[in-house]
Amino acid sequence: MSMTQTCLWISLALCIATGGSEMFYEKRGETVILNCGDAAANRDVEWKHKDSLIMSVTGKTGRSIRGSASVLSKSKLNQQNLHITSLEPDCAGLYSCTGYNSEGSKIITQHTLSIVSVTESAEAVLQSTLTLKCDITGDSTAQVQWQSPKNHSKFETGKEITVKSVSLKDAGEWVCQIKGEDGKERKKIHVNVAVVGPLESSKELTVGLGASAVLPCFLSRPSRLRIVGGGWTRDSLNNSLLTLAREKDLHWTITKDKMSRFTFPTHQLSTNFSVKLTNVQSADAGVYVCTLMFEGKEKLKANLRLKVEGEAVSRSSKTFWEISVLGLKLYAWVAIAAGSVILIILFVVIMFFYRRNKRMRRKVRKLKSMREPLTSRNYCQCNR
Ligand SMILES: *[C@@H]1O[C@H](CO)[C@@H](O)[C@H](O)[C@H]1NC(C)=O
Ligand SMILES: *[C@@H]1O[C@H](CO)[C@@H](O)[C@H](O)[C@H]1NC(C)=O
Ligand SMILES: *[C@@H]1O[C@H](CO)[C@@H](O)[C@H](O)[C@H]1NC(C)=O
Repeated sequence: MSMTQTCLWISLALCIATGGSEMFYEKRGETVILNCGDAAANRDVEWKHKDSLIMSVTGKTGRSIRGSASVLSKSKLNQQNLHITSLEPDCAGLYSCTGYNSEGSKIITQHTLSIVSVTESAEAVLQSTLTLKCDITGDSTAQVQWQSPKNHSKFETGKEITVKSVSLKDAGEWVCQIKGEDGKERKKIHVNVAVVGPLESSKELTVGLGASAVLPCFLSRPSRLRIVGGGWTRDSLNNSLLTLAREKDLHWTITKDKMSRFTFPTHQLSTNFSVKLTNVQSADAGVYVCTLMFEGKEKLKANLRLKVEGEAVSRSSKTFWEISVLGLKLYAWVAIAAGSVILIILFVVIMFFYRRNKRMRRKVRKLKSMREPLTSRNYCQCNR
């Protein structure tokens, strides 16, 4: 090897070194732009994925040759840079670009592309199991850590993280952090987690006999998870009263004819699963359970105790005497009226006797005064 040849080799090696090599971590489905270092535009360029040719372009003529690499259909050349869209795990690997700088020296630039497959947003039913994945294709040395919204200073190592029983505190932004072999952060991906539930009702509901009761059952916000069934059941009887059915949309269907005292909205249901029970009877008292069933077989439940107030009187006698007038039951008004009548009679009788007594006393006094001239004094004086 001659002196000049050696020099050429050294300069070539230097050129290749200046081309640089970068690590790219991109999310599945996204787009990456790989640069060709200092390669000048309008010169020959060639891109390879692993060992297969993606494409090469002749600078002078602009003529391009398409290769056989699998990423070809997603690739586009812009100047000397390679754009790859809709990234998939099979796009991972080594990319090399061979180009020429403005002085005409050959430049080889290499990049390693890693594809991160991460759970997009997730929605989990309260107390169900949640699994989040952050998988990397193309770099086996990278470290993956998860950070939960519960505690931002706590990291859990691992590509996959499982929460056994999801709580409301697990809702929010989770972060998948990718660190290189050197421990430096390379990529941070935010994953939004929503929690469905709880199903809310009131613990206890007291209604008057014969009145109507709305049995409440709510989700605080609509669920993106599909609700496939559920309904209202009587706990003690273990039978369902109303069931949720999904055909085109979610709606109520009635289970038994005898429970036709239930009224419910006929429109599509979303967050309000309350139903109305009319003409409540003593026998209706007890525990009612509202249930939602999700596609993954997860369930949400809410219990409600219904208490019925008032005597178990027959309807016919109740309808008249139990009627309220100005806030008082009718029988109370009757008692008040009877009491008043007795008082008035007593008053009249007392007045009658009082006035009769007065008249009698006056009569006696009158008689006394008429007999006055015939007093003993007069007679005595005359007879002497
Ligand atoms: C959060 O995690 C850190 C590290 O594990 C721990 O020291 C800290 O007590 C945690 N904080 C809470 C509020 O749990
Ligand atoms: C209640 O219903 C469940 C499921 O439908 C059933 O497994 C259970 O045996 C029933 N219990 C009673 C007491 O009928
Ligand atoms: C929920 O549904 C019940 C029964 O249809 C109805 O009476 C009630 O007003 C609704 N509540 C809300 C907040 O929409």
